[in-house]
Amino acid sequence: MEQTIYRGLEGVHIDTTTISRIDGQRGELIYRGYDIRELADKASFEEVAYLLWHDDLPDRAQLDAFHAELAPNFTVPEPVFEAFRSMPAATHPMHAIRTAVSLLGALDPEAEGVDDANVHRIGLKLLAQFATFTAAYARIRDGKDVIAPDPELSVAANFLYMLNGEPPTPAATRVMDVALVLHAEHGSNASAFVGRATASTLTDVYSAITAAVAALKGPLHGGANIGVMQALEEIGSVEAVDGYVVDTLARPNGRVMGFGHRVYKVVDPRALILKDVAKHLAEESGDSKWFEMSLEMERVMDREMAKRGKQVKPNVDFFSASVYRMLGLPRDMYTPIFAVSRISGWMAHLYEQYANNRIMRPRLTYDGPLGRTFRPIEQR
Ligand code: ACO
Repeated sequence: MEQTIYRGLEGVHIDTTTISRIDGQRGELIYRGYDIRELADKASFEEVAYLLWHDDLPDRAQLDAFHAELAPNFTVPEPVFEAFRSMPAATHPMHAIRTAVSLLGALDPEAEGVDDANVHRIGLKLLAQFATFTAAYARIRDGKDVIAPDPELSVAANFLYMLNGEPPTPAATRVMDVALVLHAEHGSNASAFVGRATASTLTDVYSAITAAVAALKGPLHGGANIGVMQALEEIGSVEAVDGYVVDTLARPNGRVMGFGHRVYKVVDPRALILKDVAKHLAEESGDSKWFEMSLEMERVMDREMAKRGKQVKPNVDFFSASVYRMLGLPRDMYTPIFAVSRISGWMAHLYEQYANNRIMRPRLTYDGPLGRTFRPIEQR
């Protein structure tokens, strides 16, 4: 019987969800009914994480209680730092981050339970610890001391503090908070899907999140933000952008990083918000090079794609690259920073998956030879 094959699972709905909805035609994203533009403008990352885990925004007492639950979890066990110290300095930070999650699972005697209470306990731990071990890795591989978390600070402020060793300005904290809010959740993208598929075997949270981190690393997913900055650095000037885009698109399968999306047919709303943030940072700092190159890349992509009858617009990774650059963050930490935020969305997906589980088991259509005769090894 002829089977319909959905390559890349395009158009396949694996379940219902109440976490988020993307309207790819209108360029809209909602988290539990709230428009991402309003959340980015008005909410902190903690409020958004609470929203993703508890169905609605917290009131003041709920937010304070959530912070009080998170605060003791910022501290990461020493063996994680020892593992980081044993890695070559050139290790891709996503290998370090993925290893940290896996190691935390090995160190947790209660890792196995997938009941609500245990999933929530591990979720709080990971939400807090992603910021700590990501910042710690950046320092350890640069030969610097690890900075202990300040339990009074928010995730955004703590991350910048532990990375740089000095309290961040309110403006830098706010930019970080906006970036974390925008990266928190995005439906059944590759890493959330892999996390859910892994959880669907009823394995533990750490295993599912390790798998999600592994998927995020790829250059077609979260790894694209590093690819964007690599491209901008390689290009070097606004004048050279046109030639770079034209040459890249002329190559077989040539991809300009930070553009295109499976679901959005118009511009990704997160990219529009980050574009405004990047513009503001460029004006404030007087360093407009990265923003101007990004604008030129967007213009040339529009022109080149129109020639091909396509619309391939910036995605979240495009302007986040120049925003992180202007915040002074190291380039290879851009994807780990994505994970510092996305752990909130991944956990929301695991709650949903464990609560109403069915193992994921799609099919492949066999298209290979049939009826071959086995010959003993001496006769092959
Ligand atoms: N550069 C050039 N052409 C592109 C790009 C791009 N970045 N993205 C899509 N296209 C073109 C493709 O060539 C393709 O043309 P065709 O139909 O003539 O073959 C068409 O647009 C559709 O692209 P697909 O690859 O089929 O789209 P798909 O949904 O499978 O892939 C993806 C989506 C992986 C995001 C893709 O757009 C891409 O490779 N982008 C670059 C990497 C990137 O920025 N990833 C981050 C995505 S956001 C996130 O994960 C956080």
